[in-house]
Amino acid sequence: MRTPLALLTAASLTLLVAACSKPASAPEVSADTATPAAAGEPSDHEKAELLASLPAPYNTGDLENGKRKFAMCRSCHTINQGGPNMTGPNLYGVFGRKAGSVEGFAYSDAVKAAGFTWDADHLNNWLADPRGFMPGTKMSFMGLKEPKDRIDVIAYLKVETGYKPE
Ligand code: HEC
Repeated sequence: MRTPLALLTAASLTLLVAACSKPASAPEVSADTATPAAAGEPSDHEKAELLASLPAPYNTGDLENGKRKFAMCRSCHTINQGGPNMTGPNLYGVFGRKAGSVEGFAYSDAVKAAGFTWDADHLNNWLADPRGFMPGTKMSFMGLKEPKDRIDVIAYLKVETGYKPE
């Protein structure tokens, strides 16, 4: 009886060791990742972390509502890295970018002469009333009148367009 028991113990020890010796560098698969992120794109978990790190009030942004409201922009804008310009320019990397500076997009003179760099405040004013904020722009969009919708869209854009907190 001694030998089989000893063998059994040895066998289970081997199993234990095998179970523990998975490479430590194996990528962590977090259980809260609802949709698998495409290569190089932040996971939902990373997006939630980025959202929480945004300055107020954007840290309270509702990404789902932001995404729903952004549907109004999608007919004219792509937001993915390397996405094409359509009626409007691609918006990837818009935060920290000089207004009117996407390569190959034919901006209005108004946007070309704007001279500012896009940040949340500029975007907030722009989205409330593009033509009121910048007379002469060719972005024909009636504006997002609800302040909370603008917060949500800006938060959504921050997490989706490669924004890096300072
Ligand atoms: C009908 C098409 C259309 C819709 C809808 C639209 N845009 Fe635009 N957008 C444009 C055009 C055209 C421009 C370039 C404006 C110009 O040159 O005067 C622009 C410019 C911009 C810019 C400035 C980009 C830069 O590189 O300086 C931002 C930011 C922007 N849009 C965000 C949005 C957001 C967010 C929404 C939705 C809430 C939206 N747009 C809806 C057509 C549109």
